[in-house]
Amino acid sequence: MCGIIGSIGVKNAVPVLLKGLERLEYRGYDSAGICVVTNNSLVVIKKTGKVAELAAHSAISSLKDTTIGIAHTRWATHGKPSEENAHPHLDCKGEIAIVHNGIIENYHKLKNELEEKGHVFRSETDSEIVAHLIEYYYNGNLERAVIMALKKVEGAFGLAVMHKSEKSIVAARRGSPLVLGISDGAMFVASDVSALLDYTSRVIYLDDNEVATLTSKSYTIKTLEGNMIRSRAVQEIDWNIDKIEKRGYKHFMLKEILEQPISIEKVLQNRIINNRILLDIKIDINTLKRLYIVACGTSWHAALEGKYIIERIAGIPVEVDYASEFRYRNPLFIKGDAIIAISQSGETADTLAAIRLAKEKSLPIISIVNVVGSGIARNSDSVIYLNAGPEIGVASTKAFTAQIMALVLFALYIKQERNDIADNEILNSLKVINCSIKEVLKSREEIKKIADEIYASRDALYLGRGMQFPVALEGALKLKEISYIHAEGYPAAEMKHGPIALVEEGTPVIALAMEDVLHEKMISNIQEVKARKGKVIAITDSQSLRVSSLADRVIKVPKVLDILSPIVTSIPLQLLAYYAAVKRGIDVDKPRNLAKSVTVE
Ligand code: F6R
Repeated sequence: MCGIIGSIGVKNAVPVLLKGLERLEYRGYDSAGICVVTNNSLVVIKKTGKVAELAAHSAISSLKDTTIGIAHTRWATHGKPSEENAHPHLDCKGEIAIVHNGIIENYHKLKNELEEKGHVFRSETDSEIVAHLIEYYYNGNLERAVIMALKKVEGAFGLAVMHKSEKSIVAARRGSPLVLGISDGAMFVASDVSALLDYTSRVIYLDDNEVATLTSKSYTIKTLEGNMIRSRAVQEIDWNIDKIEKRGYKHFMLKEILEQPISIEKVLQNRIINNRILLDIKIDINTLKRLYIVACGTSWHAALEGKYIIERIAGIPVEVDYASEFRYRNPLFIKGDAIIAISQSGETADTLAAIRLAKEKSLPIISIVNVVGSGIARNSDSVIYLNAGPEIGVASTKAFTAQIMALVLFALYIKQERNDIADNEILNSLKVINCSIKEVLKSREEIKKIADEIYASRDALYLGRGMQFPVALEGALKLKEISYIHAEGYPAAEMKHGPIALVEEGTPVIALAMEDVLHEKMISNIQEVKARKGKVIAITDSQSLRVSSLADRVIKVPKVLDILSPIVTSIPLQLLAYYAAVKRGIDVDKPRNLAKSVTVE
């Protein structure tokens, strides 16, 4: 979603803010803006489009020796992408500037009240009301005015505020992520650590309902109730700039796909010693009767795999919910239930809300998260970090395979803790799965050629059965989100109940035909597609000629243990989507309408 960066103390804030925005651009990117203080006045410059367009704005080069500033990249929610709607927003007098990530739910009511008091609004956004509300309460103390204003606000916010005459930045969060960067003689605030890494690796994650006031040399953190928080751990981030650079790759997405042999290994690192699994799980595994997995998007597809994995390995029933549905459907809990939340970013608003609901019901929460210190991680009783490194490309790739690894590890852990049984076959296969991934990645060129054949298609179908069904869903999601080709994933047997009507001559049908118990059935489904002249692209580990003789194109993957097969079958689908999108001329790291981290409902 929207990105926020604020800087106070460095000699010239402008390049810091622009670099920060560039690093945040993957979160949301229909417009960008910057506000700094020069000659005791606020100067705001905004531009629709990419950060590079803002940086090229003629007025930017005239901003010199300005030590305080805030900036924002916007992903439109209320109001179209335009310069008026871009942040920072000012109050009526042009003395207070705010940048906001989140949604102000009672904005209509607040706006009416403020208009009655004479405030004049310039944008269609919900965010602008925050600037006016702070103006209403301001009497020489920005922090106090922000606290008073936020008490009136319902909804989610990650906020940075400055006043033309105060040498400080006030930041606050509820629901939307915000992190402080600590350095000698300078302080920063951002919605994501990647914006800070050029300047510091020492960070503090704000919690919900907290307000921080930054000066160039110090910071304070208070609750919205005004209580001072005396000690808050400063965390050292071990990512470096190298990890968030493209390092010669054309796109982050490609870099992240190719990183998978390493990211997969990282999930296992220090977690298997003498075939015993070490996880920091703070609940009594023996009391577990049922697991609910909640997640969104790609992470939800991993959750579907989690059901197969945990039920099969650990023998515990698993229910899978979209986090957005779970939170509103009044799920019935029984003693022995626990929640697993899966999220790459750890900040997805619906997933966060789902675990908060579970917390209210006193359910234990385990999260499988990539971003260390994220909201979901901090709201969980136990966390299994993916350790996959930053995922910058909007389409999730390495996080998906790492999530499956983490789920297998967790399932094995349950089995070990309940029965003291180590499943050596799976453990040994886990340890060498990276070699199979390297094998899959060797088919890049071949997959690119297939992408060149299908890139102009209107529709595509993805079919799989059993554990390959969630892979089919994931393959279809990858294709549609970055290439804009309409794609649907189905359990292959469902095809004849409707979707087969879409198959016409040349329609690409991607069939996941692994040699498992459902292989014969999958072959029948492929035959049904061929009978309608669909173009079958089979992903298979089968050595027999039956799949190759039926399919128009075959992508071979190495044989791995059935339970690990989604790891090797999902990667060719990531590559297929990637190359099809590139061929269509789409900026795959920044596809239209999408944001990396969905921090609003
Ligand atoms: C798709 C994609 C999204 C995310 C979803 C959940 O490629 O990236 O569908 O998977 O927004 O995000 P996280 O995993 O951060 O909770």
